[in-house]
Amino acid sequence: MYEQISHSLLNEILDELQPNAYERRRDLQHFYTRLGANFYAIHNLFERLYGQRDDFELQMQRLVETLVRKYMHRPRELKDLDIAREKDHNWFLSQKWVGMALYSAGFAGNLRNMAAKTPYFQELGINLVHIMPILKCPVGKSDGGYAVSNFREIDERIGTLEDLQTIADEFGKRDILLVLDVVVNHTSDEHEWAQKAIAGDKKYQDYYYIFDNREIPDMYEQSMPEIFPESSPGNFTWNETMQKWVMTVFHNYQWDLNYSNPAVFIEMIDVILFWINQGADIIRLDAVAFLWKKIGTTCQNEREAHLLLQLMKDCCQVVAPGALFIAEAIVAPVEIIKYFGEDAIIAKECEIAYNATFMALLWDAIATQNCKLLTQGLKSLPGKLERATWLNYVRCHDDIGLGYDDNDIRAAGYDPFAHRQFLIDFYTGSYPGSFASGVPFMRNDKTGDARISGSLASLAGLEKAAQSGNEQEIRIAIDKILLLHNLIMAFGGIPLLYYGDEIGTFNDYSYRDDHDKLGDSRWIHRPTIDWQRVELRKRQGTIEYTLFAALKKMIAIRKETTAFADFNNRHLIDTNNEHLFAFMRFDHNRSSKSVLVVSNFSAEPQTLDLQTLAHEGFGTSGQLIDLYSGQQPVIEEGRLPIQPFHFYWLSEY
Ligand code: GLC
Repeated sequence: MYEQISHSLLNEILDELQPNAYERRRDLQHFYTRLGANFYAIHNLFERLYGQRDDFELQMQRLVETLVRKYMHRPRELKDLDIAREKDHNWFLSQKWVGMALYSAGFAGNLRNMAAKTPYFQELGINLVHIMPILKCPVGKSDGGYAVSNFREIDERIGTLEDLQTIADEFGKRDILLVLDVVVNHTSDEHEWAQKAIAGDKKYQDYYYIFDNREIPDMYEQSMPEIFPESSPGNFTWNETMQKWVMTVFHNYQWDLNYSNPAVFIEMIDVILFWINQGADIIRLDAVAFLWKKIGTTCQNEREAHLLLQLMKDCCQVVAPGALFIAEAIVAPVEIIKYFGEDAIIAKECEIAYNATFMALLWDAIATQNCKLLTQGLKSLPGKLERATWLNYVRCHDDIGLGYDDNDIRAAGYDPFAHRQFLIDFYTGSYPGSFASGVPFMRNDKTGDARISGSLASLAGLEKAAQSGNEQEIRIAIDKILLLHNLIMAFGGIPLLYYGDEIGTFNDYSYRDDHDKLGDSRWIHRPTIDWQRVELRKRQGTIEYTLFAALKKMIAIRKETTAFADFNNRHLIDTNNEHLFAFMRFDHNRSSKSVLVVSNFSAEPQTLDLQTLAHEGFGTSGQLIDLYSGQQPVIEEGRLPIQPFHFYWLSEY
């Protein structure tokens, strides 16, 4: 039934687009197959979201038309890649992928210079690069690139489409994946759609949530939290020209798109496919938790937001099945996992999601020197789907939110409010004796809440240690940085390094002199790379050398270790020692050895009782090797000593 609708729709559209029937059929063979396989789901989802509208059929037709056009414009070599990836559909779960996120301007000045930096990625072992937003944004109202005023035009200060093409080609030749953002939740108020809305165009006013008076906004406000309470309190902004209120959940210049209008969905799928056709292997979908707004709710994680993502995925399956989605959903642990898709074994929304839970838990363990909350928080996480993987990271361009589950905090023996206050004080330097030099982000005086900004090196104590010149403190801070990286490498998922961390880049305080950045402390950790410092990675004895060499080695060993691929092949180990965090990684094919990953978060040496692992069938032979150092660890009477802030990747041989 539905396939018949799609066929006749498709034929009508094709007749208009391409008169040569023979060419058409040959060219579209794969498109037809995929549309056949996915149309039932697409139609079903589109109907659930928009079925009540009089123009439903017309909109459905427009969607199919968009897909076929995009397929026809997809370059031949990318179509071949799609076919290869369909055959090897778990390709991204391999341990071979290691990523880095960067601002092209901060990393290399612009996109043109970036292409020349490709050997640097290869030197370190990076083969997935997330180039942070590159699209046109108003100066001073950019939100670091997340307030887009043109979804198809690259910001001229950053480069051109041609530059991006050069990068995509260069990456393609070297088997490096390109990740680009699509900011799906909102546009800048200077986007053409917003401008037309301001000029009174009803069609474009329907692209946003726009209201004549406070009646409906007030209803929404009753249950909506504030995202940027310090700089943009409230979720609505008054537009003087229109004499209307606009929903602006993030900054007051970021207008939320109204996905209850199918035209918005179709526009945005067109944008997503545009960038996939430019050679993006992976699209990072920004702020996906916010896609659907409903009065009486927090307007986050709504059921319809998931339906929209499923629909986006199904549409991409038809046009570009080789492309993947990353969900950027920094929400409660039990909610994040749903962005892989619900009610299915195979991920039906985003194949990859930021593991914000793990990231925040790691920072708790660094501050407390124990792993109680880390272990508890991970135990509470529901298992994830197959063909889905985490993006594991320590730092990124955003703040660190302390979004732990209150029940987990209590189970770890803390009071939730007091514990969060401790962490905020600890990382923003007001806790006596703290090694961290972070700063608060979006302190909310109404709730006492705050998030944390700061570079990895500064939060882990390297900035203070280097300033004081204390060699031992420097060594400890470096060990902490490596301890954190060992976990994102070994946990299961794609490790995502943040640019500059590979050489220990400190906070950049210059944002305080820039009027446009002053109100947003996240700029403290969005560095401009000093390439002279980067050169120090070649000089033994420097901080840069020590960090870079260690990370390079870790990456190389991860790539060789099949047990580190992500096939839900991890299980947490109860070590009976709150300072140790341990898990076992199995080879999913059972073709090579398991690896025990154990990390000591304490400033004191700890021991792991290997007897506790006997029931795992591990360590009983006493012949263990540390894959990272290549050394046999010393084991004393069945106990493995672990130095402060050290880790092991142990395998039997
Ligand atoms: C995402 C981005 C963040 C931005 C927000 C609003 O969370 O990572 O930097 O401020 O979306 O677009």
